[in-house]
Amino acid sequence: MKNPKIEDIKKTLETDLKQVPDEKTLNELKVKYLGKKGLITELNSEIKNIPNEEKKDFGMAVNELRNIFNNAYEEKHAFFEANLLNEKLASEAIDISLPATKISKGAPNILEKLIEEVEEVFMSMGYDVVDGPEVEEDKYNFEMLNIPKGHPARDAQDTFYIEGEEILMRSQTSPVQVRTMLKGEGKTPIRMICPGKTYRRDDDDATHSHQFMQIEGLLVDKNISLSDLKGTIDVVVKKLFGEDIVTRFRPSYYQFTEPSVEVDISCFNCKGKGCNICKKTGWITVAGAGVVHPNVLRMSGYDPKEWSGFAFGFGAERLAMLKYDINDLRVFYNTDLRESKTFDREEDL
Ligand code: DAH
Repeated sequence: MKNPKIEDIKKTLETDLKQVPDEKTLNELKVKYLGKKGLITELNSEIKNIPNEEKKDFGMAVNELRNIFNNAYEEKHAFFEANLLNEKLASEAIDISLPATKISKGAPNILEKLIEEVEEVFMSMGYDVVDGPEVEEDKYNFEMLNIPKGHPARDAQDTFYIEGEEILMRSQTSPVQVRTMLKGEGKTPIRMICPGKTYRRDDDDATHSHQFMQIEGLLVDKNISLSDLKGTIDVVVKKLFGEDIVTRFRPSYYQFTEPSVEVDISCFNCKGKGCNICKKTGWITVAGAGVVHPNVLRMSGYDPKEWSGFAFGFGAERLAMLKYDINDLRVFYNTDLRESKTFDREEDL
């Protein structure tokens, strides 16, 4: 015989189960039917009022109700879980057919690249690459390079003075020669190059800049002569511009070297015949150089009777302009990526 109360609950349960929109409602139903005071739970306490011969049927009917609920619960719970997962997957989906954002690559600064090449050549010959301050003392920039105060040689280097007559923006990288010799304390042989920025009061145009770079070099040892300088420069120039390039020295004058020379290389473009790059002369000047003046050695603690040396100063922009066929040095200091891209070459990447 069917128990009317159970039949009632069964009906409400079936209606309730038909309209479960979400997990939250499902859980509310669980409380409503199987919670501590749930409709099905409470049926258990009624069993004592049931006549003995009906107890078994009653118990089975309650169990059936519980099963109906539990089965429906499992099924709906699984359904909501799957839905949740699908929603999550859909929201995190990546459309791999979309075009990727283009990453803009930088390009090596051509002047830096040239300097690195020069450094490599010198390092392979045992030279150290050293650094020196750009804000310099007059003493190192001039005096200890044998250019005393009031000397006309100073006029050629239109110097930016910062404080009085003593502190300046270095007008050449040559003061690093002095600094390096002072560190050597008249005892250690020296082989160094110093690439670095230099400053002069110059108007900027295609071939001049108030700030430019030099690559200074100094070798101090025993029995060093001009021919050692020639051999060294020759190797470097050939590595940079090609094996068929010839070097020549022209007499010149610098206070800190004696003898002093201008270093010319045969024009790599016309092979000496004369073209626009070499201004029809067949030769291109790339550096100033010479044998270190005894006064300079002495002032920096190296006894000229014992030690001798050579020094040179390349114009870095000039080398880069020649090597990479650039006719305006302002491009080196331009931060426009489109400019540097022009020099972007596959092998650099
Ligand atoms: N410092 C010189 C200049 O700026 C270049 C130079 C010439 C450097 C001869 C040297 C050198 O070391 O020996 O014009």
